[in-house]
This record gives sequence, structure tokens and C-alpha cells, in this order.
Amino acid sequence: MLDHEDGAIGRLSMSRSGKVRSRPALAIVERLYADIDGYRLSHLGRRRRATRERALTYGEVLLAPFLAILREANPRRSEVFYDLGSGTGKAVLMAATAFNFARVVGIEVLPELHQVAERVLALLPYAL
Ligand SMILES: C[S@@+](CC[C@H](N)C(=O)[O-])C[C@H]1O[C@@H](n2cnc3c(N)ncnc32)[C@H](O)[C@@H]1O
Repeated sequence: MLDHEDGAIGRLSMSRSGKVRSRPALAIVERLYADIDGYRLSHLGRRRRATRERALTYGEVLLAPFLAILREANPRRSEVFYDLGSGTGKAVLMAATAFNFARVVGIEVLPELHQVAERVLALLPYAL
């Protein structure tokens, strides 16, 4: 198991900001993540903690298919989107940008990934 202090798990959260149409939303999120390498950051985080914990194996959602799946789910305005194991926050930012969720929440154990998610979240208002 990965050891972490209480409160060390990063929580990325934002309330409704108003959705953008799907195609522009996809372009916006892709641009925000253009220079971010979650695989490298995850590798770094796991190496620092000398862990080979399989639950920390990294992978990233493909934004276009993810968008299509969420569209199929037809989320309501009152619903909350959670990503347990949110990495750099890609799915969370995509859900927040393209849909009218009441709230989106990402939870990530590796600070190297969570810090990037927070940075991207801070940039989002300027990208819309
Ligand atoms: C397969 S990645 C998915 C990343 C993200 N959801 C995406 O699709 O881009 C799984 C993530 O879960 C994180 N993780 C694994 N166990 C966790 C836990 N118990 N609490 C929080 N995050 C966890 C890992 O560090 C990793 O970043």
C-alpha cells in the first residue's frame, strides 16, 4: 500500500460554471492538456514513494469517446460527477466544461498528479 498522511489525497472540486458546446469543449480541454504528461508525473510520484502498488497504475481517459459516453448518460443538472483516481483531472475538467453537472469532483492520491489538476482548473476560466 502507498503510505500517505491524513489529508494528503488531493480533492479537485468545482461547482457549476455553465457548459460549453461539445466540440469547442473538447478543443478547450485538449489544448489545456497539450503539454501535460500524466504518465511521466505518475511514474515520478510512484518512484519517489518507491511503490509498485498496482492500483496506482496510470492510464488516461480518451476525451472524445469519454464525451460520447457521458452524452449517452444524459446527466441532469442536479447530478454530481465523481472521478475516484482522477490523475491530472482530464475527465473532471471535460465533465465540467461540456455538461451542466451541479458539481464535479476528482480525488487523486498522488500529489504530483493532483497539483497539475489544480493548475489546469485555475486556467480553465481563461480558456473558455
Ligand atoms: C488509470 S488512472 C485514471 C486517471 C484519470 N481518471 C483519467 O482517466 O485520466 C487511475 C488513477 O487513480 C489513482 N488512484 C489509485 N488508487 C487511488 C486511491 N485509493 N485514491 C485516490 N486515487 C487513487 C492513481 O494514482 C491514478 O492516477
